[in-house]
Order: sequence, then C-alpha cells, then structure tokens
Amino acid sequence: MAEQAMAGQAGRFAGKVAVVTGGASGIGLATVRRLAAEGARVVAGDLDPQGRMPALQAELGADVAWMRADVTREADMAALADAAVERFGGLDCAFNVAGGSRPSYLLDMAEEDWDFVLDLCLKGVMFGIKHQARRMAAQGRGGAIVNVASLNSHVPMHGGGAYATAKAGVEMLTRNAALELAEHGIRVNAVLPGLVETPLTRRHFDNPDALAAFKARIPMGRPAQPEEIAGPLLFLASADASYVSGASLLVDGAWAVSGYPDMRPFRGPARWNGGG
Ligand SMILES: NC(=O)c1ccc[n+]([C@@H]2O[C@H](COP(=O)([O-])OP(=O)(O)OC[C@H]3O[C@@H](n4cnc5c(N)ncnc54)[C@H](O)[C@@H]3O)[C@@H](O)[C@H]2O)c1
Repeated sequence: MAEQAMAGQAGRFAGKVAVVTGGASGIGLATVRRLAAEGARVVAGDLDPQGRMPALQAELGADVAWMRADVTREADMAALADAAVERFGGLDCAFNVAGGSRPSYLLDMAEEDWDFVLDLCLKGVMFGIKHQARRMAAQGRGGAIVNVASLNSHVPMHGGGAYATAKAGVEMLTRNAALELAEHGIRVNAVLPGLVETPLTRRHFDNPDALAAFKARIPMGRPAQPEEIAGPLLFLASADASYVSGASLLVDGAWAVSGYPDMRPFRGPARWNGGG
C-alpha cells in the first residue's frame, strides 16, 4: 500500500494556501502532511485535546500554522479562514475533516448526544463551507472545498443513528454547496471513507473479533491507512479535478459493493485455468 499512497506529487500545490479542520490527528493530519509535502502552505485547526500542536509545529515548520479551532463555533471557523488570508495571503482549498461520534441506539438516544454528533459532523461543515467560500469568493480566483463524509452516508450502522444521519447530511450539503458556489468558481466535493485506522476507530482494532467482522465485509480485506484517504482528498482539490464538483468519492476498498451475500461457496470457483 503505503509506497504509492504516500508518494504524492512534489510541487502540485506550490503557491496554494489550504485550511484543514481536524488537522491534528488521523485523516486530517495525513492531509496536512501531504499538502505540506506537495508545496502548499497550510493553516491546520483542531480542538487538540492531546496538546499535539507544538510537536507538529516543530515537525512541519513554518509553512504549516496551527490554531485551536472548534468547528462547532462559527467564530472559530471564520477565524480559521481569516488566518489563511492573514498569514499566507489567500485561501485556495479547504478540507473539512473534523468529525467524531457518540454511538447510541435510537432506543437510548439522549438529546445531548444527538446534538453533539450533528453539531460536530454536520453543522461544523456548514460553518466551514460558509467562511471558506466567503474568503475564496472575495478574492475572486475560485477555490476547492473537500468535505469528509463516510460510507455511513449511504449505509446505516447499529448505534449510528446520529452519525450516519449527519454524514448523509454532509453529502447533500456538499451537493448544495457545489450548486450555489459554482458561480464563484468554487468546486465542492465529498470523500466517503470506509474503515480507516485512526484513533477514532482504535477500539475496533483493539478487538480482534470486531476487526474480523469488518474485514469479512471489505472485499479488499483490509482497512485503509489515513494516507490512502488524504490522496483522494488532495486529488479533488487539485487541478486534475478542475471539472469535478458536487461529487461523492467512495474510498472504501470496495466495501459499498459487497452488500450481496458471498455466493462463492454455493457457486464454486471460476473455471478459468490461468491462460489468456
Ligand atoms: N476513521 C474512519 O474509519 C472514518 C471513516 C469514515 C469517515 N471518517 C471521518 O473522517 C474524519 C476524520 O476522522 P479520523 O478517523 O481521522 O478521526 P481522529 O479522531 O483521528 O481525528 C479527528 C480530529 O478531529 C478533531 N476534532 C474533534 N472535534 C473537533 C471540533 N469540535 N473542532 C475541531 N476539531 C475537532 C479531533 O481533535 C481530532 O484531531 C471524521 O469526520 C470522521 O467522521 C473516519
């Protein structure tokens, strides 16, 4: 995997300025690292509960600025977009990655948990889009926004009533934003990851039975590494995606196409003998 996923294209984002929410961990951090490696200057925002920002600042140098920014607070999302303009002179691409969950069955759902997940996963993306797009529209050279949704935008899960609903909302919000922002030259797309090995999913990786249950569902037979999500995120923000807007890109190891039962035990193997 990783060799190709992490290779990147040196200089592809040279001269570009990006913001990333949820930049201090997992998919967001892989995105920040990849952007920096490809020449972008980046403002990375996060709640940073583990206090990782000073070490990341030292690791990634002056082309990446770090700031505490809570996506559920509109003023923070405005400040994150402003920081890109003030610190690096503009804003070309934005990655709304921050997210998380408080799993709860609907029979047990507490209003507080519902609000927490919807605010973090859906309202936060709306605040991000609004303020990122305002800066991009004001500078008049277009831009690209990429939102992280989930396979759960399409597929429900037990305990995921709030999370899957929020992620479905992110997909529609992305499409609505693509419609409204096209006149400003701003493209808006979504990436829908399957299972990715990050602190968010640590509990599944620490439980061999849970991990086996996931792998049985994933035709590629393994979870993704965060770098394998960062690559598609950067593609959608790059010039190679200049005519792509309002799209949802599943990055899930073929998981979404595995809904039908595995009929191989009943049908038997292919008859092909290995020849041409
Ligand atoms: N890991 C997976 O399997 C998976 C699958 C599909 C979608 N996703 C989505 O990918 C995104 C990134 O998840 P990850 O797996 O990298 O998780 P992660 O926990 O490693 O990273 C999430 C980051 O978001 C930050 N964050 C949390 N609340 C915040 C807030 N209010 N404001 C700003 N930052 C906040 C956290 O501090 C953390 O640094 C999320 O939107 C998640 O829902 C993850």
